[in-house]
Amino acid sequence: MVTSVPILMDTRPSAPSTAPAAGKPTVRPPAVGASAVASPAALNLPAATTLIDIEQVDFFYGATQALADINLKIDDRKVTAFIGPSGCGKSTLLRCLNRMNDLIEGARVSRGTIRIRGVEIYQPDVDVIELRKRVGMVFQKSNPFPKSIYENITYGLRLQGRSDKSDLDAVVEKSLRGAALWDEVKDRLDTSGLGLSGGQQQRLCIARAIAVEPEVILMDEPCSALDPVATAKVEELIQTLRENYTIVIVTHNMQQAARCSDKTAFFYMGRLIEYADTRNIFTNPANPQTEAYVSGRFG
Ligand SMILES: Nc1ncnc2c1ncn2[C@@H]1O[C@H](COP(=O)(O)OP(=O)(O)O)[C@@H](O)[C@H]1O
Ligand SMILES: [Mg+2]
Repeated sequence: MVTSVPILMDTRPSAPSTAPAAGKPTVRPPAVGASAVASPAALNLPAATTLIDIEQVDFFYGATQALADINLKIDDRKVTAFIGPSGCGKSTLLRCLNRMNDLIEGARVSRGTIRIRGVEIYQPDVDVIELRKRVGMVFQKSNPFPKSIYENITYGLRLQGRSDKSDLDAVVEKSLRGAALWDEVKDRLDTSGLGLSGGQQQRLCIARAIAVEPEVILMDEPCSALDPVATAKVEELIQTLRENYTIVIVTHNMQQAARCSDKTAFFYMGRLIEYADTRNIFTNPANPQTEAYVSGRFG
């Protein structure tokens, strides 16, 4: 059994106190010798802001507890990786973030709060459809609709009542470009999405997710069914998407977490064991269980 440990550490960039803090007036540093101040790059590091704030969350499937006392702040426009052995609750927590668990009978957040930009998403007046538009999801197994590539992308927009051809055309191109797929499919937009390779299908699903302009993209082991070349393409894509979206990715692949993410959360048996900058998790973890997992000694 895992004991509860203090998990959240302050991982803000350790810029000098003279660096501008969000919402505070800039304080000019006193004129000092160059050697006394950090590099300009360090001074200019923007402080990450929290987009998703998870506090004291417990989660049950019927009588079985799947998450216990989860506290986690997810940064805006960064990539956060969830890692940990199978069954530790990664997918459950991911699905909590856009209330996909609502669709599972007997599943519930029994304690705690989840706020996205300060809005508590489990309040009864929250529009769940709107929430899922803002918090899109890409699954382990790519799941294009049995429709044309074009219709896969426009499906969500049509549900919103958008039908203007030039509007839809523009979104299709923008989304496919955003998912690094445009050049490969622009001449066959009216052919079935199911005719694409596995890697292309997964990028089609990413294009479909970004077509409705979400703020957050949740990815649950998006590469686990892909070959190394297709995986590399999706990883490259994640690096581009991070400029405009907040990404939370569940992965079994340690190298992938290390390559793709800014911060990493390690889970074990329904608890968050450690959360820190990815570099620290992989090179200098604070918790012996994290160390054992990232070095491949279990899981
Ligand atoms: N739909 C479900 N109904 C009941 N139990 C579930 C369901 N989905 C997951 N669980 C259980 O919740 C725990 C966490 O599962 P999951 O979040 O899928 O873990 P992970 O993604 O880390 O492999 C596991 O014990 C799993 O068996
Ligand atoms: Mg899972």
